[in-house]
Amino acid sequence: MIRLTDEERRQLLDLAGEARRRAYAPYSKYQVGAALRTRSGRLFTGCNVESAAYPTSICAERVAIFKAVSEGERQFDVLAVVTSNGGTPCGGCRQVMAEFGLDTVVLIGDGTGRLCQETTVGALLPGAFTPDSLRT
Ligand code: THU
Repeated sequence: MIRLTDEERRQLLDLAGEARRRAYAPYSKYQVGAALRTRSGRLFTGCNVESAAYPTSICAERVAIFKAVSEGERQFDVLAVVTSNGGTPCGGCRQVMAEFGLDTVVLIGDGTGRLCQETTVGALLPGAFTPDSLRT
């Protein structure tokens, strides 16, 4: 697991906060932004995107992860998530995060830019079902 400097935390929370401003959440009105840093140092952002057919909406975290994977990145150091109230990632997003490593650091920030929690994917999803779980 990587150790972050305050400057790195600040950069990732700021990026997630900017992405949050691009959220398309006319139904829930709950805007979420994410910023993902790959082990190679690339940065990917995401915001939640809703649809009038509600279940087809997608969370900010998954947008950031899928953008990264679709660009050839599968190893992640840190994911920052920003909501109005410091809400934590949903179960579905925790599962997708776990697919790519339990050691990824997760920063959770609120609408004021404050870091509310610093944790890991493994701590957010104890007993995770991972690619290893499919080994017989
Ligand atoms: N949402 C996220 O983007 N990430 C989460 O981890 C929790 C929920 C979004 C989905 C939906 O657009 C809105 O927040 C309310 O659930």
